Amino acid sequence: MERRTPLIARLAAEGTDCYRVFHGITEGLPGLTVDRYGGLVLAQTFREPLVPAETEALEAALRAALGMPFAFAYNHRGKKAAEPFEKWHRPSPEALVEFVCSEGGLKYCIRARHRGIDPWLFLDLRAGRRYVRSSAKGLSVLNLFSYTCGVGVCAAAGGASEVWNVDFAASSLEVGERNAALNGIPAGKFRQVNEDCVTVLRQLAGLSSGGRYGQKRRYQRFEPRSFDLVFLDPPAWAKGPLASVDLVRDYPSLFKPAVMAAKPGGRVIAANNVGSVDYDGWTEVLRRCAAKAGRPIRDLRPIEPDGDFPSFDGKPPLKLVICEV
Ligand SMILES: C[S@@+](CC[C@H](N)C(=O)[O-])C[C@H]1O[C@@H](n2cnc3c(N)ncnc32)[C@H](O)[C@@H]1O
Repeated sequence: MERRTPLIARLAAEGTDCYRVFHGITEGLPGLTVDRYGGLVLAQTFREPLVPAETEALEAALRAALGMPFAFAYNHRGKKAAEPFEKWHRPSPEALVEFVCSEGGLKYCIRARHRGIDPWLFLDLRAGRRYVRSSAKGLSVLNLFSYTCGVGVCAAAGGASEVWNVDFAASSLEVGERNAALNGIPAGKFRQVNEDCVTVLRQLAGLSSGGRYGQKRRYQRFEPRSFDLVFLDPPAWAKGPLASVDLVRDYPSLFKPAVMAAKPGGRVIAANNVGSVDYDGWTEVLRRCAAKAGRPIRDLRPIEPDGDFPSFDGKPPLKLVICEV
């Protein structure tokens, strides 16, 4: 908490009450994270689950350190979580309550336990959302793999003329719709596309969307068109109906159509959250891919994560770059 104090003060000044309290991997306890989302504090384990006495000790330590009232919830997400979600540990009633937290004065729904396993707001993407909000005025924005539409909400709040959020999970888009409503974003400029991103993106880029699977399955049709800003934040790996998403072996199959769906002079913000992928190698792949597509990157700049995600040697697992194409 001592290390966090200056950052928490800066975040409070921008209207943010959600941040990572403890990032175990680089702060002394790999496999444990603690995040604050407004009135909810969520602990998560990724390796060994905590035993009840440890959970109680952690909660007591947090109550002493944070000096504010909060609801506490704990989720285990490691391999030993093969049991149904509710059985991972003693269910706490707070885990099922929906909270509203704030980032940059914008409001987001948050609940510790829901159908999926990831919290509804990825805190390490805060710097990316901040950038999008500050630069979206008047722009058309394509938010791919949008999850609960945090980036889309920031784009709309920043004055984007139009925002498309694309995700194949209807339940995530539904939370995104509520996030938009919480912030008074008119539905007219906030479009939800419940479809495979590869299928949508390839059509927008004017590439074939058929392929092996496309012929057999029904999918939403789109005319080719381009956007001022394309935000590309895929999961490390996922199987889609048309192709697999694989950030280690095949970033170009997403990045090439993303570049082609950006207007000339527009921007693609690309993310890669795989820790083992190194920044220099990955950005070299992006440069080669864009050049091969006939849309070379004119300028490439990283967006650094905020200080609540400290990394070893300044190499954060989540790499985020702004590419002007
Ligand atoms: C890492 S999250 C993206 C986080 C998001 N950018 C944000 O701002 O919170 C990955 C999302 O990709 C979605 N997804 C994975 N594969 C997909 C695919 N082929 N087409 C559409 N959505 C996909 C998942 O449903 C999930 O919501």
